[in-house]
Amino acid sequence: RSADIDPSRLEVELTKSPKTIPPTNQLVFGRTFTDHMLTIPWNSQTGWGTPKIQPYAPLQLDPSSTVLHYAPTLFEGLKAYKGKDGVLRLFRPDKNMERMNRSAARLAFPTFTGENVTQLIKKLVEVDSKWVPSDPGTSLYIRPTMIGTQAGLGVGASTDVLLFVIASPVGPYYSTGFKPVKLYATTKDVRAWPGGTGGFKLGSNYAAGVVPQQQAAALGYQQILWLFGPEHRLTEVGTMNLWVALRKDDGGLELITPPLEDMILPGVTRDSVLALARDHASGKRKLAGLPDKFTVSERNLTMPELVEASRNGSLSEVFGSGTAAIVSCVDGIGYEGELVKVPCGEDGLGDVARVMLREIVGRQTGDIPSEWSFPV
Ligand code: COI
Repeated sequence: RSADIDPSRLEVELTKSPKTIPPTNQLVFGRTFTDHMLTIPWNSQTGWGTPKIQPYAPLQLDPSSTVLHYAPTLFEGLKAYKGKDGVLRLFRPDKNMERMNRSAARLAFPTFTGENVTQLIKKLVEVDSKWVPSDPGTSLYIRPTMIGTQAGLGVGASTDVLLFVIASPVGPYYSTGFKPVKLYATTKDVRAWPGGTGGFKLGSNYAAGVVPQQQAAALGYQQILWLFGPEHRLTEVGTMNLWVALRKDDGGLELITPPLEDMILPGVTRDSVLALARDHASGKRKLAGLPDKFTVSERNLTMPELVEASRNGSLSEVFGSGTAAIVSCVDGIGYEGELVKVPCGEDGLGDVARVMLREIVGRQTGDIPSEWSFPV
Protein backbone atom coordinates (compact mmCIF):
# COMPACT_ATOMS: atom_id res chain seq x y z
CA ARG A 1 0.00 0.00 0.00
CA SER A 2 1.51 3.33 -1.07
CA ALA A 3 1.02 5.73 1.82
CA ASP A 4 2.34 8.72 -0.14
CA ILE A 5 2.53 10.06 -3.67
CA ASP A 6 5.80 8.92 -5.24
CA PRO A 7 7.07 11.24 -8.01
CA SER A 8 9.78 8.73 -8.98
CA ARG A 9 7.00 6.47 -10.33
CA LEU A 10 5.87 9.10 -12.84
CA GLU A 11 4.87 7.82 -16.27
CA VAL A 12 4.72 10.30 -19.15
CA GLU A 13 2.65 9.77 -22.30
CA LEU A 14 3.06 12.65 -24.72
CA THR A 15 0.23 13.79 -26.99
CA LYS A 16 0.37 12.80 -30.64
CA SER A 17 -1.80 15.77 -31.62
CA PRO A 18 -0.53 18.97 -29.99
CA LYS A 19 -3.03 21.84 -30.09
CA THR A 20 -2.48 25.29 -31.55
CA ILE A 21 -1.62 27.81 -28.86
CA PRO A 22 -3.92 30.85 -29.20
CA PRO A 23 -2.40 34.36 -29.27
CA THR A 24 -2.08 35.83 -25.77
CA ASN A 25 -4.52 38.68 -26.43
CA GLN A 26 -7.28 36.16 -27.20
CA LEU A 27 -7.03 34.30 -23.89
CA VAL A 28 -10.16 34.23 -21.76
CA PHE A 29 -9.61 33.09 -18.16
CA GLY A 30 -9.68 29.30 -17.89
CA ARG A 31 -11.01 28.44 -21.36
CA THR A 32 -7.91 27.08 -23.05
CA PHE A 33 -6.00 24.13 -21.65
CA THR A 34 -2.53 22.82 -22.36
CA ASP A 35 -1.76 19.54 -24.14
CA HIS A 36 -1.29 17.45 -21.00
CA MET A 37 -2.68 16.79 -17.55
CA LEU A 38 -1.39 15.05 -14.44
CA THR A 39 -3.44 12.33 -12.76
CA ILE A 40 -2.79 10.42 -9.53
CA PRO A 41 -5.44 7.94 -8.35
CA TRP A 42 -5.92 6.80 -4.75
CA ASN A 43 -7.76 3.79 -3.40
CA SER A 44 -8.35 2.98 0.26
CA GLN A 45 -6.91 -0.56 -0.17
CA THR A 46 -3.92 0.15 -2.40
CA GLY A 47 -3.12 3.75 -1.49
CA TRP A 48 -1.66 6.23 -3.97
CA GLY A 49 -1.25 4.90 -7.50
CA THR A 50 1.06 5.77 -10.38
CA PRO A 51 1.33 9.48 -11.21
CA LYS A 52 0.78 10.00 -14.95
CA ILE A 53 1.27 12.91 -17.28
CA GLN A 54 -0.93 12.14 -20.25
CA PRO A 55 -2.73 13.94 -23.09
CA TYR A 56 -5.43 16.33 -21.82
CA ALA A 57 -8.73 14.46 -22.18
CA PRO A 58 -12.18 14.04 -20.62
CA LEU A 59 -12.34 11.92 -17.46
CA GLN A 60 -14.48 8.80 -17.35
CA LEU A 61 -16.68 8.64 -14.26
CA ASP A 62 -19.43 6.28 -13.21
CA PRO A 63 -22.67 8.31 -13.02
CA SER A 64 -23.00 7.28 -9.37
CA SER A 65 -19.56 8.73 -8.49
CA THR A 66 -19.83 10.57 -5.20
CA VAL A 67 -18.39 13.80 -6.62
CA LEU A 68 -21.43 14.05 -8.90
CA HIS A 69 -23.87 13.79 -5.98
CA TYR A 70 -22.44 15.03 -2.70
CA ALA A 71 -19.68 17.33 -3.98
CA PRO A 72 -16.55 15.84 -2.44
CA THR A 73 -14.33 18.10 -4.53
CA LEU A 74 -11.61 20.61 -3.71
CA PHE A 75 -9.32 22.72 -5.83
CA GLU A 76 -6.28 24.95 -5.80
CA GLY A 77 -5.08 27.73 -8.05
CA LEU A 78 -1.47 28.73 -8.60
CA LYS A 79 0.48 30.25 -11.43
CA ALA A 80 3.65 29.62 -13.41
CA TYR A 81 5.45 32.59 -14.99
CA LYS A 82 8.08 32.88 -17.66
CA GLY A 83 10.64 35.49 -16.60
CA LYS A 84 12.61 37.85 -18.83
CA ASP A 85 15.48 35.41 -18.27
CA GLY A 86 13.37 32.62 -19.83
CA VAL A 87 13.16 30.77 -16.47
CA LEU A 88 9.79 29.26 -15.52
CA ARG A 89 8.78 29.88 -11.91
CA LEU A 90 5.94 28.77 -9.65
CA PHE A 91 4.72 31.24 -7.03
CA ARG A 92 4.53 29.82 -3.49
CA PRO A 93 3.34 26.30 -4.44
CA ASP A 94 4.17 25.19 -0.88
CA LYS A 95 1.26 27.32 0.39
CA ASN A 96 -1.15 25.76 -2.10
CA MET A 97 -0.04 22.25 -1.16
CA GLU A 98 -0.50 23.00 2.56
CA ARG A 99 -4.00 24.30 1.93
CA MET A 100 -4.84 21.43 -0.43
CA ASN A 101 -3.94 18.96 2.32
CA ARG A 102 -6.15 20.84 4.80
CA SER A 103 -9.07 20.75 2.32
CA ALA A 104 -8.40 17.05 1.67
CA ALA A 105 -8.52 16.24 5.38
CA ARG A 106 -11.81 18.17 5.67
CA LEU A 107 -13.36 15.94 2.96
CA ALA A 108 -11.96 12.70 4.47
CA PHE A 109 -9.65 12.43 1.43
CA PRO A 110 -6.10 11.09 1.70
CA THR A 111 -3.30 13.58 2.28
CA PHE A 112 0.20 13.59 0.77
CA THR A 113 3.59 15.23 0.99
CA GLY A 114 3.18 18.62 -0.69
CA GLU A 115 6.69 18.72 -2.18
CA ASN A 116 5.98 15.49 -4.06
CA VAL A 117 3.02 17.03 -5.88
CA THR A 118 4.93 20.29 -6.43
CA GLN A 119 7.65 18.20 -8.10
CA LEU A 120 5.05 16.58 -10.37
CA ILE A 121 3.47 19.95 -11.17
CA LYS A 122 6.92 21.24 -12.16
CA LYS A 123 7.21 18.25 -14.49
CA LEU A 124 3.81 19.06 -16.05
CA VAL A 125 4.87 22.70 -16.55
CA GLU A 126 8.10 21.49 -18.12
CA VAL A 127 6.26 19.16 -20.52
CA ASP A 128 3.85 21.99 -21.46
CA SER A 129 6.48 24.76 -21.18
CA LYS A 130 5.66 26.23 -24.57
CA TRP A 131 2.19 27.03 -23.17
CA VAL A 132 3.55 29.38 -20.51
CA PRO A 133 2.97 32.88 -21.92
CA SER A 134 5.46 35.65 -21.28
CA ASP A 135 3.59 38.88 -22.10
CA PRO A 136 3.05 41.23 -19.13
CA GLY A 137 -0.05 40.23 -17.15
CA THR A 138 -0.08 36.67 -18.48
CA SER A 139 0.78 33.36 -16.83
CA LEU A 140 -0.05 29.67 -16.80
CA TYR A 141 -2.87 29.12 -14.30
CA ILE A 142 -2.50 25.68 -12.70
CA ARG A 143 -5.54 23.97 -11.25
CA PRO A 144 -4.86 21.01 -8.92
CA THR A 145 -8.12 19.24 -8.05
CA MET A 146 -9.25 16.24 -5.99
CA ILE A 147 -12.55 14.43 -6.45
CA GLY A 148 -14.28 11.45 -4.84
CA THR A 149 -14.69 8.94 -7.68
CA GLN A 150 -16.08 5.76 -6.20
CA ALA A 151 -19.32 4.44 -7.62
CA GLY A 152 -22.21 4.25 -5.18
CA LEU A 153 -24.78 6.49 -3.58
CA GLY A 154 -23.83 5.92 0.05
CA VAL A 155 -22.69 9.03 1.90
CA GLY A 156 -19.36 8.38 3.54
CA ALA A 157 -15.61 8.66 3.24
CA SER A 158 -14.38 8.22 -0.33
CA THR A 159 -12.73 4.88 -1.06
CA ASP A 160 -11.53 6.15 -4.44
CA VAL A 161 -10.14 9.59 -5.11
CA LEU A 162 -8.55 11.18 -8.15
CA LEU A 163 -6.02 13.96 -7.81
CA PHE A 164 -5.56 15.69 -11.15
CA VAL A 165 -3.87 18.85 -12.36
CA ILE A 166 -4.77 20.81 -15.48
CA ALA A 167 -3.24 24.07 -16.69
CA SER A 168 -4.52 27.04 -18.64
CA PRO A 169 -2.61 29.94 -20.21
CA VAL A 170 -4.30 33.12 -18.96
CA GLY A 171 -4.37 36.85 -19.49
CA PRO A 172 -5.96 39.17 -16.89
CA TYR A 173 -8.80 37.53 -14.88
CA TYR A 174 -11.31 40.31 -15.49
CA SER A 175 -11.89 41.15 -19.13
CA THR A 176 -12.07 44.78 -17.97
CA GLY A 177 -8.36 44.59 -16.91
CA PHE A 178 -7.73 46.73 -13.85
CA LYS A 179 -10.96 48.66 -14.27
CA PRO A 180 -12.38 49.05 -10.76
CA VAL A 181 -15.46 47.02 -9.84
CA LYS A 182 -18.68 47.88 -8.05
CA LEU A 183 -19.76 45.54 -5.29
CA TYR A 184 -23.20 44.59 -4.11
CA ALA A 185 -23.17 44.10 -0.34
CA THR A 186 -25.72 41.37 0.14
CA THR A 187 -27.59 41.28 3.43
CA LYS A 188 -29.47 38.13 2.35
CA ASP A 189 -27.02 35.43 1.26
CA VAL A 190 -24.15 34.26 3.46
CA ARG A 191 -20.94 32.74 2.05
CA ALA A 192 -19.54 31.20 5.22
CA TRP A 193 -20.30 30.91 8.92
CA PRO A 194 -18.55 29.82 12.13
CA GLY A 195 -18.07 26.06 12.05
CA GLY A 196 -18.72 25.96 8.29
CA THR A 197 -16.35 25.18 5.42
CA GLY A 198 -15.60 28.74 4.25
CA GLY A 199 -11.97 28.44 5.33
CA PHE A 200 -11.36 25.47 3.00
CA LYS A 201 -11.09 25.58 -0.78
CA LEU A 202 -14.00 23.25 -1.51
CA GLY A 203 -15.91 23.36 -4.78
CA SER A 204 -19.21 23.48 -2.90
CA ASN A 205 -18.36 26.89 -1.40
CA TYR A 206 -18.24 28.34 -4.91
CA ALA A 207 -21.33 26.65 -6.37
CA ALA A 208 -23.55 28.42 -3.84
CA GLY A 209 -22.15 31.83 -4.73
CA VAL A 210 -23.30 31.85 -8.34
CA VAL A 211 -26.95 32.83 -7.84
CA PRO A 212 -26.09 35.80 -5.56
CA GLN A 213 -23.47 36.81 -8.15
CA GLN A 214 -26.08 36.68 -10.94
CA GLN A 215 -28.46 38.77 -8.85
CA ALA A 216 -25.74 41.35 -8.21
CA ALA A 217 -24.93 41.42 -11.94
CA ALA A 218 -28.61 42.01 -12.77
CA LEU A 219 -28.46 45.09 -10.54
CA GLY A 220 -25.36 46.36 -12.35
CA TYR A 221 -22.66 45.21 -9.91
CA GLN A 222 -19.62 43.14 -10.90
CA GLN A 223 -19.07 41.28 -7.64
CA ILE A 224 -20.70 40.37 -4.33
CA LEU A 225 -19.48 41.78 -1.06
CA TRP A 226 -20.13 38.98 1.42
CA LEU A 227 -21.27 40.19 4.85
CA PHE A 228 -21.77 38.26 8.04
CA GLY A 229 -23.94 38.69 11.11
CA PRO A 230 -26.46 41.29 12.23
CA GLU A 231 -23.64 43.86 12.47
CA HIS A 232 -22.90 43.34 8.72
CA ARG A 233 -19.24 42.42 9.09
CA LEU A 234 -17.31 42.54 5.81
CA THR A 235 -15.81 39.13 4.98
CA GLU A 236 -14.85 38.51 1.35
CA VAL A 237 -15.42 39.96 -2.10
CA GLY A 238 -16.60 37.56 -4.83
CA THR A 239 -14.01 34.75 -4.73
CA MET A 240 -11.33 37.03 -3.24
CA ASN A 241 -10.04 38.16 0.14
CA LEU A 242 -10.96 41.69 1.15
CA TRP A 243 -8.82 44.69 2.08
CA VAL A 244 -9.76 48.16 3.32
CA ALA A 245 -7.31 51.04 3.84
CA LEU A 246 -8.32 53.80 6.25
CA ARG A 247 -6.62 57.19 6.59
CA LYS A 248 -5.60 57.93 10.19
CA ASP A 249 -5.46 61.29 11.98
CA ASP A 250 -1.63 61.21 11.94
CA GLY A 251 -1.64 61.09 8.11
CA GLY A 252 -0.81 57.37 8.02
CA LEU A 253 -2.81 54.43 6.72
CA GLU A 254 -4.30 51.41 8.41
CA LEU A 255 -4.58 48.37 6.12
CA ILE A 256 -7.32 46.04 7.34
CA THR A 257 -8.29 42.50 6.35
CA PRO A 258 -10.71 40.26 8.27
CA PRO A 259 -9.06 37.68 10.56
CA LEU A 260 -9.02 34.11 9.20
CA GLU A 261 -10.89 32.37 12.01
CA ASP A 262 -12.87 29.77 10.06
CA MET A 263 -14.92 31.94 7.72
CA ILE A 264 -12.20 33.43 5.57
CA LEU A 265 -10.33 31.52 2.85
CA PRO A 266 -6.61 31.60 3.71
CA GLY A 267 -5.50 33.11 0.39
CA VAL A 268 -1.91 32.81 -0.79
CA THR A 269 -2.14 36.35 -2.18
CA ARG A 270 -3.69 37.44 1.15
CA ASP A 271 -0.71 35.97 2.98
CA SER A 272 1.68 37.67 0.54
CA VAL A 273 0.03 41.10 0.93
CA LEU A 274 0.10 40.71 4.73
CA ALA A 275 3.80 39.78 4.75
CA LEU A 276 4.80 42.65 2.45
CA ALA A 277 2.63 45.15 4.35
CA ARG A 278 3.97 44.01 7.74
CA ASP A 279 7.59 44.28 6.55
CA HIS A 280 6.87 47.84 5.40
CA ALA A 281 5.11 48.70 8.68
CA SER A 282 7.96 47.33 10.82
CA GLY A 283 10.62 49.01 8.70
CA LYS A 284 12.19 45.64 7.78
CA ARG A 285 11.65 46.38 4.08
CA LYS A 286 10.12 49.70 3.10
CA LEU A 287 8.00 49.81 -0.05
CA ALA A 288 8.06 52.91 -2.27
CA GLY A 289 4.55 54.32 -2.72
CA LEU A 290 3.27 53.53 0.78
CA PRO A 291 3.21 56.15 3.56
CA ASP A 292 5.80 55.80 6.28
CA LYS A 293 3.14 55.70 8.96
CA PHE A 294 1.47 52.41 8.18
CA THR A 295 -0.26 49.82 10.33
CA VAL A 296 -1.62 46.41 9.38
CA SER A 297 -4.63 44.90 11.16
CA GLU A 298 -6.28 41.53 10.85
CA ARG A 299 -9.54 42.69 12.36
CA ASN A 300 -13.24 42.91 11.63
CA LEU A 301 -14.90 45.94 10.09
CA THR A 302 -18.64 46.49 9.68
CA MET A 303 -20.62 48.13 6.89
CA PRO A 304 -21.80 50.98 9.16
CA GLU A 305 -18.10 51.71 9.93
CA LEU A 306 -17.25 51.64 6.22
CA VAL A 307 -20.18 53.93 5.33
CA GLU A 308 -19.02 56.38 8.00
CA ALA A 309 -15.42 56.27 6.68
CA SER A 310 -16.69 56.96 3.16
CA ARG A 311 -18.70 59.95 4.46
CA ASN A 312 -15.95 61.50 6.59
CA GLY A 313 -13.22 61.03 3.97
CA SER A 314 -11.11 58.55 5.91
CA LEU A 315 -11.79 55.70 3.47
CA SER A 316 -8.69 55.45 1.29
CA GLU A 317 -9.32 52.31 -0.75
CA VAL A 318 -10.99 48.89 -0.91
CA PHE A 319 -9.62 45.98 -2.91
CA GLY A 320 -9.83 42.23 -3.32
CA SER A 321 -6.86 39.86 -3.58
CA GLY A 322 -6.66 36.41 -5.17
CA THR A 323 -4.44 34.27 -7.35
CA ALA A 324 -6.54 34.73 -10.45
CA ALA A 325 -6.82 38.55 -10.50
CA ILE A 326 -3.97 39.32 -8.00
CA VAL A 327 -5.72 42.57 -6.96
CA SER A 328 -9.02 44.12 -7.98
CA CYS A 329 -10.04 47.58 -6.78
CA VAL A 330 -13.49 48.69 -5.76
CA ASP A 331 -14.98 52.08 -6.58
CA GLY A 332 -18.44 51.70 -5.08
CA ILE A 333 -20.53 49.46 -2.84
CA GLY A 334 -24.29 49.07 -3.14
CA TYR A 335 -25.60 48.74 0.41
CA GLU A 336 -29.15 49.01 1.70
CA GLY A 337 -30.35 50.91 -1.35
CA GLU A 338 -27.46 53.39 -1.50
CA LEU A 339 -24.16 53.56 -3.36
CA VAL A 340 -21.27 53.98 -0.94
CA LYS A 341 -18.48 55.82 -2.77
CA VAL A 342 -14.98 54.35 -2.59
CA PRO A 343 -11.99 56.32 -3.93
CA CYS A 344 -9.81 54.68 -6.59
CA GLY A 345 -6.77 55.92 -8.53
CA GLU A 346 -6.95 56.95 -12.21
CA ASP A 347 -5.09 53.79 -13.20
CA GLY A 348 -7.89 51.74 -11.59
CA LEU A 349 -5.78 50.96 -8.54
CA GLY A 350 -5.60 52.42 -5.03
CA ASP A 351 -2.17 53.20 -3.52
CA VAL A 352 -1.85 49.99 -1.51
CA ALA A 353 -3.18 47.73 -4.31
CA ARG A 354 -0.82 49.37 -6.84
CA VAL A 355 2.23 48.76 -4.64
CA MET A 356 1.17 45.19 -3.80
CA LEU A 357 0.57 44.36 -7.48
CA ARG A 358 4.06 45.65 -8.37
CA GLU A 359 5.75 43.78 -5.51
CA ILE A 360 3.89 40.49 -6.04
CA VAL A 361 4.22 40.44 -9.83
CA GLY A 362 7.93 41.27 -9.41
CA ARG A 363 8.35 38.17 -7.27
CA GLN A 364 6.19 36.01 -9.55
CA THR A 365 8.17 36.86 -12.67
CA GLY A 366 11.56 36.70 -10.97
CA ASP A 367 12.31 40.43 -11.45
CA ILE A 368 12.51 40.70 -7.64
CA PRO A 369 14.49 37.78 -6.18
CA SER A 370 12.39 36.04 -3.51
CA GLU A 371 12.06 32.79 -1.61
CA TRP A 372 8.42 32.80 -2.79
CA SER A 373 9.58 32.01 -6.28
CA PHE A 374 10.20 28.32 -7.14
CA PRO A 375 12.12 27.85 -10.41
CA VAL A 376 10.79 24.88 -12.42
C1 COI B 1 -8.89 33.25 -7.04
O1 COI B 1 -7.79 32.97 -7.50
O2 COI B 1 -9.20 34.39 -6.71
C2 COI B 1 -9.86 32.18 -6.90
O3 COI B 1 -10.54 32.11 -5.93
C3 COI B 1 -9.99 31.23 -8.02
C4 COI B 1 -11.24 31.54 -8.80
C5 COI B 1 -11.04 31.28 -10.24
C6 COI B 1 -12.38 30.75 -8.23
